[in-house]
Amino acid sequence: MKRNDNHSAELLAQTREKITKSLSKNGIVILPPMDVFLSARLIELLGIKVQTTIFDPWYNKGVGGEREDYVDYILRILEALKAFSEHLFFWGFPQIVAHFVDKIPEPLQLKCWLTWFYKNSPSMIRGWRSAQMTCLHLARPDAKMHVENFLNEVQLQKFKQGKLRFIPGPPSVIEESLLCGFVGRKEQTGHPSQKPIAVIEKLVLMGTGRGDLVVDLMSGSGTSAEAAYNNERFSIICDISEDYTQIAEKRLGVKRINLPARLINRIDAATSALRPKKIRIPFKNDRPLQKTDPTKGQQLSLLMGS
Ligand SMILES: C[S@@+](CC[C@H](N)C(=O)[O-])C[C@H]1O[C@@H](n2cnc3c(N)ncnc32)[C@H](O)[C@@H]1O
Repeated sequence: MKRNDNHSAELLAQTREKITKSLSKNGIVILPPMDVFLSARLIELLGIKVQTTIFDPWYNKGVGGEREDYVDYILRILEALKAFSEHLFFWGFPQIVAHFVDKIPEPLQLKCWLTWFYKNSPSMIRGWRSAQMTCLHLARPDAKMHVENFLNEVQLQKFKQGKLRFIPGPPSVIEESLLCGFVGRKEQTGHPSQKPIAVIEKLVLMGTGRGDLVVDLMSGSGTSAEAAYNNERFSIICDISEDYTQIAEKRLGVKRINLPARLINRIDAATSALRPKKIRIPFKNDRPLQKTDPTKGQQLSLLMGS
């Protein structure tokens, strides 16, 4: 038992060094594809201090499928992420996110209900056309709000001298077009749920100072890493899908790091109980209902990519 512990500590130390080296070389670390419970536990065990975590899961409809245990599932992920996050930005459609407002795990608190407003959704349904998404800004009570990042030069000088009586923070409604059609063509990667950099950037700026760390463990195309990099912040990202990990590698010009298989297997075994075993994925386009195991990255990415 003791030898096992020593070995794990050694593997963790090696991994920490690898991540630190890679961060100082590239500013970005892409972890190999893995489940969020596994990557979250890894970050926690490594003792990495994270100023801002972006949490942008599938929204319980559309491409990610639907699951009956969604609220419970997301709450368990929030629990895992809060272990190392000062600020946590949690995305979803308003009607889904609303379920979580009175269930925020302590010591996280609700700082703000943010809305991303877009007018260019191509949806043709006979009713309200979707034009908003919600992002709950959760934070520890002592988390620093970096309002200084939103000030102009004159305001910043006054702020530094303690002479700015009213600090004009950014609005809680972020107006930015969806990446679709010709909008944001250069930014589009092919990921079905990619956020604009300009949207994620606001969250990064509120939750970090220069040189701080952003983590996104459901990172899709890697928007968080790009927003962080553009603003001189470090980032660690990971996604369960091999396909999306490749998209992020290409987009960011950074290759994933390798991790010691023994360490990953041990953490995997220790976190497997957290992962739900069944997920219902009712695709719309004539495919039959599929039962699949969300812990099997390859299987999930095949289903998502097809
Ligand atoms: C809404 S998308 C994120 C999009 C991202 N913010 C972007 O701008 O590209 C959700 C992502 O979560 C990933 N995902 C789903 N289940 C996961 C799991 N259990 N562990 C890690 N990632 C997962 C999906 O592969 C998908 O890329």
